[in-house]
Amino acid sequence: MYRYLIRPFLFLFDPERVHYWSFSSIKLFSSLGLSGLFKYLFLIEDRRLERELFGLKFKNPVGLAAGFDKNAVLYNELSNFGFGFVEIGTLTPKPQEGNPKKRLFRLKEDQAIINRMGFNNKGVFDAVEHLKKKHKVLIGGNIGKNKVTPNSEAIKDYLICFDALFNHVDYFVVNVSSPNTPGLRELQDKEPLTALLNELQLENTKYSSRQEVSRKPILLKIAPDLTDDQLMDIIDIVAVTKIDGVIATNTTISRENLKSHQLLLEEAGGLSGKPLKDRSTEVIRFLSEKSNKAFPIIGVGGIHSAEDALEKLEAGADLIQLWTGFVYEGPGLVKRINKAILNSAN
Ligand SMILES: Cc1cc2nc3c(=O)[nH]c(=O)nc-3n(C[C@H](O)[C@H](O)[C@H](O)COP(=O)(O)O)c2cc1C
Repeated sequence: MYRYLIRPFLFLFDPERVHYWSFSSIKLFSSLGLSGLFKYLFLIEDRRLERELFGLKFKNPVGLAAGFDKNAVLYNELSNFGFGFVEIGTLTPKPQEGNPKKRLFRLKEDQAIINRMGFNNKGVFDAVEHLKKKHKVLIGGNIGKNKVTPNSEAIKDYLICFDALFNHVDYFVVNVSSPNTPGLRELQDKEPLTALLNELQLENTKYSSRQEVSRKPILLKIAPDLTDDQLMDIIDIVAVTKIDGVIATNTTISRENLKSHQLLLEEAGGLSGKPLKDRSTEVIRFLSEKSNKAFPIIGVGGIHSAEDALEKLEAGADLIQLWTGFVYEGPGLVKRINKAILNSAN
């Protein structure tokens, strides 16, 4: 029904507007008591789907990727679609508008999206207010820096977000891989990245011992456009800084092998969806093999079917996330993936 009725209708309208309409509709339907229906349609509960990673128990390995619920306003309602975890953000210390609209483009022929949202968010302290309610699902807090903060002062921004969210999320994601904040990806270089992660780990130890609670898992989200040498650096950095894992991958700046109109391909921003699938799987496989499975990997990029998800898991991902596939295939995709994981375990 989604692919043949709902999607063609939604795709008649501007993608960013549709995103916010969908939010309002999900909120409205949930407040009218339809959460039970969503759960009935989309949720699978089965102990064989559970995963234990970095001290957390995930009800299933399929998560919603960052950038969907940037301001942490809909995580509980979204969990009714069957996700085992929801990643909020990217959040920055101060609220920011992001790039001028139009900044989100559908590449229908390629089943892809180009976005240059630019970390539009209401700021970490606004999100904290929304996170004070009871969570029905594990929450990842994806953190970044404000556009106006120079890279030389970026660590401060990450620390502000880390401290603000510490008591409100289950794990952290350090986002240095968005192509839409000028210069951000330079923080993926060995020296600044090691410094940033060391500083966050120090804060993690200080904060947790002060409050006599466990430290929070910290993961690093990387771009699919890194070279093999840079990926080898990432493996070293994870070992040296002792962070808990890697999310591979963010969107790509590549525009290879696309069928959509040239004018669309010329839009600046990160490309997600089907064309990203193979490269992100390649990155997962590389990290998993070259590190000898030294750390957990969350695989994300172009998962539009159960087969795509199984491919990521086979390549070395421990958990997976979706964004663009959720928009193109609808909420039923989460259940189809979880069913396939159950079947593959038999
Ligand atoms: C509109 C849009 C906004 C996004 N915003 C963020 C973000 O704020 N932070 C982040 O780490 N990733 C962000 N992403 C990247 C996704 O989390 C994901 O890594 C990427 O889209 C690849 O997965 P997919 O092919 O399933 O979409 C965004 C993606 C899209 C399409």
